[in-house]
Amino acid sequence: MTIPFSFRLEAPDFIPSYYDTHIKRTLSAMQGQFLDQNAYDRMRAEDDTLLYEVYEIHRPEVPGELSHGISIVHPGRVGAEYAMTKGHFHRVLDTSEIYHCLKGHGFMVMESPEGEWAVEELSPGTVLYVLPCWAHRSVNVGAGEDLVTFFAYPGHAGHDYGTIEARGFRKLVLDRNGAPAIVDNPRWVKAASS
Ligand code: F6R
Ligand code: ZN
Repeated sequence: MTIPFSFRLEAPDFIPSYYDTHIKRTLSAMQGQFLDQNAYDRMRAEDDTLLYEVYEIHRPEVPGELSHGISIVHPGRVGAEYAMTKGHFHRVLDTSEIYHCLKGHGFMVMESPEGEWAVEELSPGTVLYVLPCWAHRSVNVGAGEDLVTFFAYPGHAGHDYGTIEARGFRKLVLDRNGAPAIVDNPRWVKAASS
C-alpha cells in the first residue's frame, strides 16, 4: 500500500482484517527443535499438527518501514515442552522488535549472541521490547487457549533461523507437575565467539 492505511484487530480471534501473508507452521517445520525427539516422532507419525500461524503486513525491506502482524501459537505440548515458535535472530542483527500480547498466557524466551538470556511472561496487556541483537521465541503455556501477540519490527531486519536451528536456545519452557518451569537446555551450544 502506498497511502496510509489501517485495519481491524478484534477479539476473540484477533485475525487482522487486512494482511499480505498467512504462514502456517506445523510440526514438520520444527524437526530437531523440541527436546523430546521420541515424543516428537510419535506425534509426527500420527499427524503433522499445526503449531502456529502468522498473519503479516509486509512492508518494503528498508529501515524506515515497520513490518507487522499477528502471531498465534496454538496450545499444546511435545513431551513436556510447550508449543512454541521456531525462534530466530534477525539477519540484520542489531534490529529490535516490539510485541503486544492480546490473548493467552506464555513466555518470550530471548538470548543475545554472547549467551545472556531473558524470559518474560506474556499475558493480555503485556508490551514486550526485544532488544537489538537478541533472538526471540514465543511459547504458549496456556491450557487450551491460543497465545496471540501483535508484533512490529524494522522492514530491513530479515530473519536468521539457522543459528537457532544449529545451537538451540539456552532456556526451555517445560511443564513440571502442571506448571511451566524455565530450565537449562542440555543441548544448547554456546557460540564460539562468546
Ligand atoms: C518477526 C517475528 C515474529 C515471528 C513469529 C513467528 O521478526 O519475530 O513475527 O516471526 O512470531 O516466529 P518464527 O518467525 O520464529 O517462526
Ligand atoms: Zn523477530
